[in-house]
Amino acid sequence: MAATIAVLPGDGIGPEVTHAAVAVLQTVRPDVTCVEHEIGGAALRRGLPALPDDARATCERSDAILFGSVGLPEYDSKPLAERPEYALFLLRRDYELYANIRPVRVFPGLEDASSLKPELVRGLDLVVVRELTGGIYYGKPKEQRTEDGVESAVDTMIYHAPEIERIVRTGFELARGRRKHLTSVDKQNILETSRLWRRVTERIAPEYPDVKLEHLLVDNAAMQLVRRPGDFDVIVTENMFGDILSDEAAILTGSIGTLPSASLGTRGMPGRQFGLYEPIGGTAPDIAGKGIANPTAAILSAALLLRYSLADDENAARIERAVERAYADGVLTADVARDNTPVSTQTFTDAVTARL
Ligand code: IPM
Ligand code: MG
Repeated sequence: MAATIAVLPGDGIGPEVTHAAVAVLQTVRPDVTCVEHEIGGAALRRGLPALPDDARATCERSDAILFGSVGLPEYDSKPLAERPEYALFLLRRDYELYANIRPVRVFPGLEDASSLKPELVRGLDLVVVRELTGGIYYGKPKEQRTEDGVESAVDTMIYHAPEIERIVRTGFELARGRRKHLTSVDKQNILETSRLWRRVTERIAPEYPDVKLEHLLVDNAAMQLVRRPGDFDVIVTENMFGDILSDEAAILTGSIGTLPSASLGTRGMPGRQFGLYEPIGGTAPDIAGKGIANPTAAILSAALLLRYSLADDENAARIERAVERAYADGVLTADVARDNTPVSTQTFTDAVTARL
């Protein structure tokens, strides 16, 4: 079946790693049409909005979006609508991509790259399920004010029960297909939204009697993640907690450059869902353009795209195995190379392509 992918590389290392992912994707699926657009800072620099109309139009007629990364220090002082991140903010909101799935795995042989003791991270395999279209990212009011000469700012954390229900179900479903352990993370000792979150989660739990449900407060969860990461299977949590915990979980693997993510919504059907696929890590402006960035997260994001949006589990697994083999053969970029000689983005990509 012919498919069209909107390719939005964005800023920093975004273009390098996204082009690597496209190369791998087109090797296994030469029939897929990739249409690329500048977004984020790359668009802002040309006087365009962060998500230009032509990019949006391509997304509109695509089966999925392969996204790089957005954000550049030069825009830090601008309001959200004039920052590169706004592109991502709009795509998530407009396509209601509420379920952000972030699988965290340690490649065999890479345990030494982690800042934790190797025995704590060996075989680590967990998934963070982050609510992506609600909570404090999107709640209104959200603004800066000056009253009687005093500056203030407000963000609003709001959740509606149906938003919690659907993401908690995503968590339960995923856990059901794995080790059947779901950890719901909240801050119910302080936040009203968390009290609702926990109540709704408890209400849904009886539908999944085969899954063991555990609740953790977010501060404790942050601690347990570095103390006993191997005990986690699926973590489900609200937008901002998920943002923070997924970076923490990602670095357990030794490099944030290895972890992909899928953001799924309400469009399409299982296996053929419209989704946005992106590396968890950021734009890494310090190494951008040097050709040394680790493209693993982008390549594995393309694999998730095949699995969830193009119903092509076979090629998804092919890509995942090829990446694993490259690691097993010691083909390592600078972020994870340690005592080995680091390879470039291009060399790593070629190594993956050769192992497909
Ligand atoms: C992420 C990123 C984004 C977020 C930024 C770039 C807006 O950190 O996808 O985790 O906060 O969601
Ligand atoms: Mg983040």
